[in-house]
Amino acid sequence: MTAKLIDGKAIAKKVREQAAADVADMVAKGYARPGLVTVLVGADPASEVYVGMKQRMCKKLGMESFSHTLPADSTQEEVEALVQQLNEDPKVNGILVQLPLPGHLDDEAVLKAISPEKDIDGFHPLNMGRLAQKGREPLFVPCTPDGCIYLLDEVGVKMEGANAVVLGRSNIVGMPAALLLVKRNATVTICHSRTKNLADVCRQADILIAAVGRVEMVKKDWVKPGAAVIDVGTHRIDDDTKEKGYYLTGDVAFDEVSEVAGWISPSPGGVGPMTIAMLMRNTVRAAQIANGLVEV
Ligand code: GUN
Repeated sequence: MTAKLIDGKAIAKKVREQAAADVADMVAKGYARPGLVTVLVGADPASEVYVGMKQRMCKKLGMESFSHTLPADSTQEEVEALVQQLNEDPKVNGILVQLPLPGHLDDEAVLKAISPEKDIDGFHPLNMGRLAQKGREPLFVPCTPDGCIYLLDEVGVKMEGANAVVLGRSNIVGMPAALLLVKRNATVTICHSRTKNLADVCRQADILIAAVGRVEMVKKDWVKPGAAVIDVGTHRIDDDTKEKGYYLTGDVAFDEVSEVAGWISPSPGGVGPMTIAMLMRNTVRAAQIANGLVEV
């Protein structure tokens, strides 16, 4: 292996420790503990796991955690009414509506109903719009792409002037990652299912962010020697030879790509822990905004 490993676990731990220190500082000054509420509609098993992890991490860092689970057949009005009630609740600093929502619900309308000051996911159209505009800053940045940029910064990968390729254009990861890279003055190409000569395009990248949702799609010959590769994908592959009956892997063929890349953030163990750490950081920031402790 020639690539240096980007240790997302260790970097995420530092971010969480800073968030916990900021919480302790607020409490010492007499402010209420920051509070995060999760809203889960339905009982998707993966979403239940993610929401549980977010709630436990809040408590671990000294924050308040609230949760609401609504039935899968909830109406648009019911979900939006809950969001409205949470917007008005002073104990709630951050509102996280776990995505994806059941298909009959309009997720854009739900996200728009969240107060931009409590939008710790950064998915409100006001925050996303500001992310897309020159000279403007959102109140919050989506957690997974923010985590990718944080990892690159931590290991000293220069974004200014770099050729960056983002594989995937989802609202949650690909598109905001591309917008963040533009803000950092990278030259950005977004690839998707209709992109021609995908391997050739990826091979131009100094920075390659793989968020395409395809098992180990990025191969060794897709990667420029020395490039920084961030794997955002997570896939559970059934395997009877493993103790758990499965193993986890990402969008990048780790073993072969690490022979050519300069830096690599693996999956699992890379961006995953960063997402939750950035969420904790955003929740502390929401509480600081609510208390007038930071300028926005
Ligand atoms: N589903 C997958 N990732 C996310 C995320 O970052 N936030 C929310 N709310 N839902 C998600």
